[in-house]
Amino acid sequence: MNNQKYFKDKVIIVTGASSGIGLAAAKLFGSCGAKVVMAARSLEKMEAMAPEVGKDVLCVRCDVSVEEDCKALVEKTVERFGRIDILVNNAGLSMRAMFKDLDLVVIKRLMDVNFWGTVFCTKYALPYLLEAKGQVVGVISIAGYSALPARCAYSSSKYAIRGFLDTLRIEHLKDGLGVLVFAPGYTESNVRNAALVADGSAQGKTPLEEGKLMSAERCAEYLAKGLRKRRSEMILTTLGKATVWMHRRFPRLTDKMTYSFIAKEEDSPFK
Ligand SMILES: NC(=O)c1ccc[n+]([C@@H]2O[C@H](COP(=O)([O-])OP(=O)(O)OC[C@H]3O[C@@H](n4cnc5c(N)ncnc54)[C@H](OP(=O)(O)O)[C@@H]3O)[C@@H](O)[C@H]2O)c1
Repeated sequence: MNNQKYFKDKVIIVTGASSGIGLAAAKLFGSCGAKVVMAARSLEKMEAMAPEVGKDVLCVRCDVSVEEDCKALVEKTVERFGRIDILVNNAGLSMRAMFKDLDLVVIKRLMDVNFWGTVFCTKYALPYLLEAKGQVVGVISIAGYSALPARCAYSSSKYAIRGFLDTLRIEHLKDGLGVLVFAPGYTESNVRNAALVADGSAQGKTPLEEGKLMSAERCAEYLAKGLRKRRSEMILTTLGKATVWMHRRFPRLTDKMTYSFIAKEEDSPFK
């Protein structure tokens, strides 16, 4: 089945839809005739993009770290469209600092946005997803399989989402619920600019050459494929696949290779 057939008329919530992978996914679903609900804190930004997403688009201001916002997101979706077929928990925040230097508020914030945001949205959407025999996605990261130094809060939150969704999949194995753990590799977006540094302020720059990374649009195509095929796991990029494979078989060697890889970053955290 192609994307057009699979996504047409499906009601799809995408959190973190104001930028990067979430925005690209919203556009892809919209282009297939889905009814898209865009959720993020930047309402004006989403409303400006909505005509490019599709005809039947609902934009909802939602801070996923706030339980009431997530509940309201689900209520507004059901009020407008009457059902929910797919929930894409994509909203996310990164960080970059060694744990020894890190203000603990950064760990708290990342767990609130990445992990609790996923838990809150999934909790309120679940009855509707079960009714529709729908799908829930968690956009994690390769860092949710193989830890990255100077990203302890990010890795922890992504490992936690994976544990949560893997459990949910087993709990609903006989209920027709699809649960996809989706792990992009490095993808061009705003995530590194927005990442928090040791004191909780935004990094405001990226240590990578963003233009050389996978595009957000390509990443969204993989997401659509994973949903269409009702996969339970998707790991992207050659580097990402190799890292996860190595980590599972040779964890100590992978630690050393990861150390060397991150040590080469501009402003390496080890210096
Ligand atoms: N880019 C990569 O290399 C990469 C790799 C692996 C995984 N990922 C994951 O992919 C997901 C999307 O990130 P991206 O790369 O597309 O980054 P991005 O361009 O920075 O987009 C992040 C999105 O999350 C939203 N967001 C942040 N905090 C939020 C909050 N408290 N409540 C609601 N929405 C919030 C942002 O919108 P507002 O600021 O408007 O709220 C934005 O729409 C994240 O989960 C990220 O961890 C990215």
